[in-house]
Amino acid sequence: MKTLISSDVRLLANLIQEGKVVIFPTETVYGIGASTKNEAACLRVYEIKGRPKDNPLIAHFHSIESIEEVCTLSEIGKKLLEKFSPGPLTLILPKKDKSLFPKDLETLAVRIPKNPEIREWIRLTGGPVSAPSANLSGRPSLTKLADVVRYFDGKVEGILIAEEPSYGIESTVVSLVGEHPSLLRPGSIESEELKTLLPDLVVPNPFESSPTLSMSSVPLSPGTKYKHYAPSAQVILASTEEFIYSLETGFDSKDTAWIGFSFSQKALNGKLAQNTEKTSTKEEEGFSEFDHFSIVSTNEEYASKLYAFFESCDLSKIQTIICEAPKLGQGWEGLRNRLEKAALKK
Ligand code: TXA
Ligand code: MG
Repeated sequence: MKTLISSDVRLLANLIQEGKVVIFPTETVYGIGASTKNEAACLRVYEIKGRPKDNPLIAHFHSIESIEEVCTLSEIGKKLLEKFSPGPLTLILPKKDKSLFPKDLETLAVRIPKNPEIREWIRLTGGPVSAPSANLSGRPSLTKLADVVRYFDGKVEGILIAEEPSYGIESTVVSLVGEHPSLLRPGSIESEELKTLLPDLVVPNPFESSPTLSMSSVPLSPGTKYKHYAPSAQVILASTEEFIYSLETGFDSKDTAWIGFSFSQKALNGKLAQNTEKTSTKEEEGFSEFDHFSIVSTNEEYASKLYAFFESCDLSKIQTIICEAPKLGQGWEGLRNRLEKAALKK
């Protein structure tokens, strides 16, 4: 199959109208989309990803009004969308238009992506566009065009080129259909922010508690029987002390990578000393190993780099990725959740 890789929103909107599958960037991660009005096209998305059929898709809209046309939007639902959309918030709402995918569900997950170009593309498709994250089921979501092309060129009809994702982790999912609103998936919009509008928001305990992370006892997220967001390499969550210790003792290792806030001058000095003893080509090799060390300064930067780092580690056949625990505070909730999921034992 020939994949049209283009920034022409019109051409790529036409593909969706014709019942084809198109990958597009959002502010969170890339999505793999089909028309919500076309069941067969949506089912193809499941096939391409290898996604279990019982996991429904998010419908992406260009405006609050277009959501109201097909879903019942309560006063509070509207307030949430006005405050957090366009942006990384997905709401589960009662569905009015029963013909929309998935037909057998009374509810629809809705979200308005932040990038105006993407909203224009959705508008041109006639909308909405149903899309899970663009990744093979179980693997980390993708945040770089190059990775998307590597996995999906020849498997989908189109790839839309636009601004790359910046948040790096998937949207916060909030259900408004039960007796109380509940947080189904943590993300960049955090439960504390949501509680300003939803004081009775139900937040599963492990999402907000803060047990100290340790290499030996990685706490499990709720309901995560299945491995998600995980690279092939084994991910280890480490406290700052453990992270620094592992750098100082293992920085020579060719099959280990690190991502976190802390750095050890001792480890770097050891590395540099080694390299100066080598020939120039060896030196280059030595320095390329620094690609397997990613230093971040905020939780947000950590989240934005995480999945692409996982991808590059797998490409270089890294066996173990040591991740420093995120800092308590802004950005902690969603990042911590993704790291825990990635670290679940295989
Ligand atoms: O940031 C994101 O949300 C990205 C971009 C592409 O928008 N999408 C994404 O989709 O992460 P996906 O399919 O990987 O995750 C959607 C989540 C799943 O956990 C799914 O179970 C849940 O939303 N979901 C979808 N429809 C639902 C519904 N009607 N009721 C409950 N949960 C639903
Ligand atoms: Mg996903």
